[in-house]
Amino acid sequence: MTKLINIFLVFLVQKCATFFVNETKEYLYGTLLVDVGYPKSGDIPLLNRKVFKGTRVSIREHPYVASVRRQYSHYCTASILTKNLLVTVAHPLAGVPVSELGAVVGENYSDRGSLVHTVVLLLIHEEFDPYTLASDIALLRVYEDITYRGSVKPIELIAPSASLSESRAFVTGWGRCDSMSRELCLPRTSKYFPEEKIDPMLRSINFKVDLSSLYCEGYLRHEIIMRPGMLCVGQAREEDPVCPCLAVPGAPLVVRARLVGLQSWGFGCGYHHDLPLVYTDLRYYQPWLVHNIPILRKIAQSNLTRIFRATRGYILSQWLAETRLIRPELEIRVDKDIVPTKLDKVLAKLRGDVYDIRDYISNGVFRKRKKEMYDTMRQHAHAVSSITESQLELRPFLSYNVYGFNVTQTGVNATEDAKNRS
Ligand SMILES: *[C@@H]1O[C@H](CO)[C@@H](O)[C@H](O)[C@H]1NC(C)=O
Ligand SMILES: *[C@@H]1O[C@H](CO)[C@@H](O)[C@H](O)[C@H]1NC(C)=O
Ligand SMILES: *[C@@H]1O[C@H](CO)[C@@H](O)[C@H](O)[C@H]1NC(C)=O
Ligand SMILES: *[C@@H]1O[C@H](CO)[C@@H](O)[C@H](O)[C@H]1NC(C)=O
Ligand SMILES: *[C@@H]1O[C@H](CO)[C@@H](O)[C@H](O)[C@H]1NC(C)=O
Repeated sequence: MTKLINIFLVFLVQKCATFFVNETKEYLYGTLLVDVGYPKSGDIPLLNRKVFKGTRVSIREHPYVASVRRQYSHYCTASILTKNLLVTVAHPLAGVPVSELGAVVGENYSDRGSLVHTVVLLLIHEEFDPYTLASDIALLRVYEDITYRGSVKPIELIAPSASLSESRAFVTGWGRCDSMSRELCLPRTSKYFPEEKIDPMLRSINFKVDLSSLYCEGYLRHEIIMRPGMLCVGQAREEDPVCPCLAVPGAPLVVRARLVGLQSWGFGCGYHHDLPLVYTDLRYYQPWLVHNIPILRKIAQSNLTRIFRATRGYILSQWLAETRLIRPELEIRVDKDIVPTKLDKVLAKLRGDVYDIRDYISNGVFRKRKKEMYDTMRQHAHAVSSITESQLELRPFLSYNVYGFNVTQTGVNATEDAKNRS
């Protein structure tokens, strides 16, 4: 908490200083967002608290939706891309130790799930900016493979050239109980948002995409510039009182059963003048995904076993330290230099900031060394050269045939379901 406050204070001081010296657009951009509660670096996960209106749905209708847990508490929403890769937004995860993260799939409730998949690698876009929320995208690699079933299926990405206009879009996730609504909500408290009533039920909202919506220009009027890769879609509250507020960050935006966007930020929540939400546009980040996904997929589970064991060992040692009167010797020695392993050679090929357990032990002493090592490897080893053109073209997660089933069905059912309910 103190850390959050500190970050916020530093931010305020910086911004105020800017105000007196140089009142730039940058400043206005920052304050406007701070005035409505976001984005404040370090405070961003509070987006998690916002009301998520919509219809209660079953996970079977949206089997690609996963709940990212932080120390077993629901934290943000992700989408399943492959049996061990999830995609979500970067902002709630920046600075969170990988050891605290897990993922639960196939559950209707954000507080259920007996199998938590351990996150062993976190890849955050190299250009992610916590202040502007540019490049708000991250990939999570889990250790235990996800078993596909009726309620658990991956989703394909939409083609970069696909047009969205006039299509029906779905946004699905978990959020807060709506105090104004008469709808049933059995609130749970959350470790990270203790003062909030978290609605544990999965909800979905659907709307027709109208790319010419004048409401998105509302952002421009507030001097907030949409950066490339940001997609403003959906209704404003004035138009439709049942529009998604900022739900759990990362909630997937799905069109024609393809993943189009990740809910990232927005202006207002629950007020009459709310503007449409802004999503990370996955069509724009397709090259980033197409570069990184094959590399992450090539890493076998056996290659990650050491990282997984280290993560487990670290968690156990933390727990012992917290619960024992006589504390065990905990400090993991860092006098040894970090040396490149085979795995590091693979990880250095990734485009982005890759985190694993080594980045957090001994208060991040390894982090700096690892980063330097990767930067050097990237500069000298022409990291990308070993990824051939054909591998990029393969785009396994884009192809119908790989998974042997059809996510389209899900979308159709979701549409039917929405019709039945409204
Ligand atoms: C304000 O800042 C911008 C960029 O940060 C700079 O180009 C401009 O010259 C500054 N204006 C003044 C009055 O300092
Ligand atoms: C989710 O809800 C649906 C509909 O109520 C139910 O059929 C399904 O079994 C539930 N799934 C889980 C994992 O609880
Ligand atoms: C991954 O594991 C396999 C077999 O366990 C091994 O042959 C391969 O070299 C490992 N790759 C890396 C990058 O560690
Ligand atoms: C998937 O759905 C599409 C469109 O509904 C259909 O044309 C195709 O045959 C289906 N494929 C499979 C494998 O079911
Ligand atoms: C919904 O899904 C079920 C099973 O996945 C399928 O049998 C059914 O035909 C689908 N409904 C529609 C309207 O496509």
